[in-house]
Amino acid sequence: MDTESSVTTEQTLSDEAIIEIVDMHKWFGDFHVLQGINLTVHKKERIVICGPSGSGKSTLIRCINRLEEHQRGRIVVDGIELTNNIKNIEKVRTEVGMVFQHFNLFPHLSIIENLTLGPIWVRKVPKKEAEETAMYYLEKVHIAEQAKKYPGQLSGGQQQRVAIARSLCMNPKVMLFDEPTSALDPEMIKEVLDVMIELAREGMTMIVVSHEMGFAKSVAHRVLFMDFGQIVEGNTPEEFFKNPQHNRTKLFLSQILH
Ligand SMILES: Nc1ncnc2c1ncn2[C@@H]1O[C@H](COP(=O)(O)OP(=O)(O)OP(=O)(O)O)[C@@H](O)[C@H]1O
Ligand SMILES: [Mg+2]
Repeated sequence: MDTESSVTTEQTLSDEAIIEIVDMHKWFGDFHVLQGINLTVHKKERIVICGPSGSGKSTLIRCINRLEEHQRGRIVVDGIELTNNIKNIEKVRTEVGMVFQHFNLFPHLSIIENLTLGPIWVRKVPKKEAEETAMYYLEKVHIAEQAKKYPGQLSGGQQQRVAIARSLCMNPKVMLFDEPTSALDPEMIKEVLDVMIELAREGMTMIVVSHEMGFAKSVAHRVLFMDFGQIVEGNTPEEFFKNPQHNRTKLFLSQILH
């Protein structure tokens, strides 16, 4: 990644926590997939999570908006604890946007319809206002001219930018990204990362599962390494890459940084 797109860390981090995860465990049947996760995310903080396949990265961030249920410990998002209380789950989901590896756009709806669906049906926003908001965010991700097309007519990078705009239309306080560029052809990765860098500049709280280490270096306040369902270590990008503490982290970094 070019250095001109580096996000300076001039922005001051708030002391206020927006996500608090305390001794959180999750099982899939007998399989103990998350084993005592402790993580506090501050407002405006940007965290990149890396780690080997199967280490529990996706499961962890899916627990934050209750796409997966945890069985022990606590997850509190903006003061709301995630329990079986449906109202709380709905509240948390309105605050937390998520972008997936495979964009999950509705193929039979146009781009603008994909963006207005949630605001109109979930938030009860009038159609005209929802469309104005949609166009605002499509412009932000540099794709306004594609509004009337269908997802299948767009490139992967364009579809992923639409998916980001769709999340932003719900006005989230936190954005979760699960390997947003790993399904993209190399030439499209940068256009998506650039949009994420712009979001970072604007002070969005972000948790990004990614192995784009250039992105991590220029954008993250903290990089976390997960292995076998645990956060093995976390540090500023500078320290994390220069001075990894654990052998598992060193091994992982040696495999992905050539
Ligand atoms: N719905 C499920 N039921 C049972 N096991 C699951 C389920 N989802 C994930 N797992 C298992 O939990 C473990 C962690 O999965 P997860 O998808 O969180 O890993 P990951 O770190 O995101 O991996 P990757 O880098 O490949 O995306 C894996 O062993 C996976 O097979
Ligand atoms: Mg994953």
